[in-house]
Amino acid sequence: MEVIIQPNKEAVASLAAHVIAKEVRANAHLVLGLATGRTMETLYQGLVEKHRKAKLDFSLCTTFNLDEYVGLTPDNPHSYHSYMRKHFFDHVNIDLRNTHLPNGMADDLDSECVQYENLIKKFGGIDLQLLGIGKAGHIGFNEPLSALRSRTRVKALTPTTIKQNATLFDSVEEVPRRAITMGVGTILDARRCLLLATGEEKADIIAKAVEGPITSMISATAMQLHRHCTVVVDEAAASKLQAAEYYRWIFANEPEWEEFR
Ligand code: F6R
Repeated sequence: MEVIIQPNKEAVASLAAHVIAKEVRANAHLVLGLATGRTMETLYQGLVEKHRKAKLDFSLCTTFNLDEYVGLTPDNPHSYHSYMRKHFFDHVNIDLRNTHLPNGMADDLDSECVQYENLIKKFGGIDLQLLGIGKAGHIGFNEPLSALRSRTRVKALTPTTIKQNATLFDSVEEVPRRAITMGVGTILDARRCLLLATGEEKADIIAKAVEGPITSMISATAMQLHRHCTVVVDEAAASKLQAAEYYRWIFANEPEWEEFR
């Protein structure tokens, strides 16, 4: 795992957009794992800008989103299908036929989950997975006690997550109680992961995820097992990291990051 500390959320998004752009330019057929949420909004703005101003071409990319609520139709404004169109898909040259999100309206949710896993395999696996982190440490909707080897499945959302996401709905009662989410094991299979966190409210959980013991109570700690996971945080989210000075030194000295400094 490597940790990059940036001054603010704009710089976090800009560095992440730069990493993604570099990967897309190196492999036009990149399979991108996508996330939703507030943290990602600035990143998608950055990618849209790179598409418009620097001709970043998504036409041959394939995408798989981490999760979708159970019971929301794709055209429901609160669905992650809608989120993706609003923040990203409608503004770049991605072929919608190459974009995938779990179908939270499927009659047979369990077989939908198996099919989603099979589809990821069919496309050769995920090259680069984007991740946000919930206040209680979930990645995707892998709530506490999610098995570290779990695959795509239906999860009941915790009261913390329901409360956290309620601000995007008209009332807390409207937040669906369940979601389909890639499992922790599915995420760990991605070739590269990029986890973004911004703001003081993420400082405690980032310290636990990066420097705490690995536990299924905090699914983000599983990223310590990943071979190539980059965590990009702003100063506020980094404020409780014990070894922040060491992470800054690595970023300043690693040749790999030269073009990003
Ligand atoms: C969304 C997702 C979640 C969010 C996390 C952080 O697809 O998988 O894990 O990334 O809840 O959300 P924000 O960025 O809104 O704090």
